[in-house]
Amino acid sequence: MKDSGKFIVLEGPDGSGKTTQIAKIEDYLRERGIDFVSTREPGGVQVAEKIRSVILDVENDMSGLTECLLYAAARREHLIQKVIPALNEGKVVICDRYVMSSLSYQGYGRRLGEVVLEVNKRAIDVEGKQYWADMNIYLDVTPEIGLQRIHAKHADREINRLDLESNDFHHRVRDGYLKLEQEYAEQFKKIDASQNEDAVFADIKEVIDNLLLSNRV
Ligand SMILES: Nc1ncnc2c1ncn2[C@@H]1O[C@H](COP(=O)(O)OP(=O)(O)OP(=O)(O)O)[C@@H](O)[C@H]1O
Ligand SMILES: [Mg+2]
Repeated sequence: MKDSGKFIVLEGPDGSGKTTQIAKIEDYLRERGIDFVSTREPGGVQVAEKIRSVILDVENDMSGLTECLLYAAARREHLIQKVIPALNEGKVVICDRYVMSSLSYQGYGRRLGEVVLEVNKRAIDVEGKQYWADMNIYLDVTPEIGLQRIHAKHADREINRLDLESNDFHHRVRDGYLKLEQEYAEQFKKIDASQNEDAVFADIKEVIDNLLLSNRV
């Protein structure tokens, strides 16, 4: 039988600190000598990176369902080509965004509702098994704080098509995450991401330590 690694996902609104904290997680896992793969969605493999650029391009107009289907297509290829092979080798996989991003942004933000779950269940079903994250580490901030960070003078991040959505959209996304946290309580850890970077990481470290400890049993 193949070893099974841990699939850990960082979730949260734009500017909540996912990319910042993933860099800290990588350092921590390296220090501890833990074999891991760090990746991101949409993207992580060539075809999915190409789909990413189509989705995020500010020049591209598309319906909400098209957006949802593109994310799901990128998700499936990334899962098959990168995530599952790493898990089968017993590695820890750290991923920047996964299914919960679609449920919050397309389901709640775009108000597409249940169809997003249906599409995603199909996208993450590989050979009869649905690959859900072992844990979603959810970085919770208000859209005001998140967007302010992104638009800050020295933020080294390009503004994408979803950033340009209305305030109402970003509030629906955040409220969506809070509902998902209740609905999928067993696979969510909510962290107050309005704290400073080190305090956020201290909370994340606790979650990761517990998860990796349970891996040893
Ligand atoms: N805890 C924090 N306090 C203040 N600023 C922060 C904190 N964490 C990250 N930042 C800053 O906020 C900006 C956005 O952070 P980051 O890119 O990590 O967010 P993100 O969740 O990856 O955003 P996106 O969803 O847009 O990729 C960066 O300039 C980063 O330096
Ligand atoms: Mg990021």
